[in-house]
Amino acid sequence: MKGLILSGGKGTRLRPITYTGAKQLIPVANRPILFYVLDNLIHAGIKEIGIIISPETGKEIKEAVGDENRWGVGIRYILQKQPAGLAHAVKTARNFLKKEPFVMYLGDNLIGARIGGLIETFYKDRADALILLKQVENPTQFGVAEIGRYGRVKRLIEKPKKPPSNLALVGVYVFSHYIHDAINKISPSWRGELEITDAIQRLIEMKRRVTSHILDEWWLDTGKKDDLLAANTLVLDEWIKRDVKGSVDQESRVMGRVVIGNGSRVIRSTIRGPVVIGEGCQIEDSFVGPFTSIGNKATVLNSVIEHSVLLEGAEVILIDRLEDSLIGRNARVQRYNKYRAFRLVIGDDSSIEI
Ligand code: DAU
Repeated sequence: MKGLILSGGKGTRLRPITYTGAKQLIPVANRPILFYVLDNLIHAGIKEIGIIISPETGKEIKEAVGDENRWGVGIRYILQKQPAGLAHAVKTARNFLKKEPFVMYLGDNLIGARIGGLIETFYKDRADALILLKQVENPTQFGVAEIGRYGRVKRLIEKPKKPPSNLALVGVYVFSHYIHDAINKISPSWRGELEITDAIQRLIEMKRRVTSHILDEWWLDTGKKDDLLAANTLVLDEWIKRDVKGSVDQESRVMGRVVIGNGSRVIRSTIRGPVVIGEGCQIEDSFVGPFTSIGNKATVLNSVIEHSVLLEGAEVILIDRLEDSLIGRNARVQRYNKYRAFRLVIGDDSSIEI
C-alpha cells in the first residue's frame, strides 16, 4: 500500500488567514495540517509516500516537509503542472503508484481518526475503492454519496445542486489499480477538472466494488476562521502533552497540558492549558487561557488571551481580553492608552469585531 498526498492545487490563498502560503501548511496547534496527514499515513504502516505539488507552492511544501530522513519513510515529490483535478493528480502520479493499491489523502484535510482500520476494511472487503463519508449540513459544497445496503456506494456526485443525501466525501480514499482504468474513461467536469468523484462513479458502472465507511470523529476541510479554531481546540484537547522547554520565571504559573518551545520566555504570567507556545516567544504580564496556540517568535504583553490562534511573529499588546480570534503572521494588535480612538491598519479581506 502506497500513500498519495495531494498538496498541489490552484495555490489560491486562504483568505483571510494567509495570503502568503500553501493552505496545506496552515498550522493547527502550531503544526501544519500536512504534517498530521503524513503522521496518519506513516502510523498506518505506509512506507512510500508521494506528494503532489504545484509550481506555485511546491518549493514551500518541500522546504516544510523535508526528506525521508525526517519521516523515516520514502518521500517522493511529484509535480503537477496544472491544477487539473484530483483524478488528474492521480494520473500524474501513475509512474510512482504503478499497480499498487494506495491511500489518496487530500493535504488540506484533517480528521480526528487513524486510518489503519480503513485500510484493513479495504482488504477485507476486497474493494476497488473505499471512500470515507461524513454527515454534513452543507452537502452542496462537497462530493456527495448515495449509499445502499452494507455501505455499498450506489452513486456519487460532485458538488450537487440537489444533494441525494447529507453524506459528504471526506478527502481520504483507498484505491486498487482499477482506478487508473476508470480515470482514463472520464472527461473534465463543468469546472474543467478531472474529478475523482466521476472516476469512482465510473468504477461503480464498471461493476467494481466500491464501499464506504462513515467517519464518527471530527473532520476539518476548509480554512475558515471558525473551522480552524475548532480544529485547534480539538487537537489541543486530544493530542497535546505537557512539555515545557522554554523558561518560566518565579512569578509565573504554568498549569495543565502546556507546551512551551525552546527559547521562549514566560514572565509574570499565567498559562492555563491546553496551550501550545512555539519557539522564541515572549509572554509577559499576561494570561494565556485554554485552547490557544501561539506560533514561533510571537509576543504577548499585558494581555489576556483565550481560545485563539496567533501565527508566527504575531504581537498582542495591552489587550484586556482577546478571544475566538485568529491573528495572522507578523500581525499586531495593540491598544493605545493615550487615545480613546482606534488606530488601524487592516489588510484586505480582514474582519475586526470591536
Ligand atoms: O475536502 C473534501 C472534498 O475535496 C470532497 O468532498 C470533494 O469530493 C473533492 O472533490 C474535494 O473537493 P474540493 O473542491 O474541496 O477540492 P480542492 O480543489 O480544494 O482540492 C483538494 C486538495 O487537493 C487540496 O489540498 C489541493 C489538492 N489538489 C487539487 C487539485 C484540483 C491537487 O493537488 N491538484 C489538483 O489538481
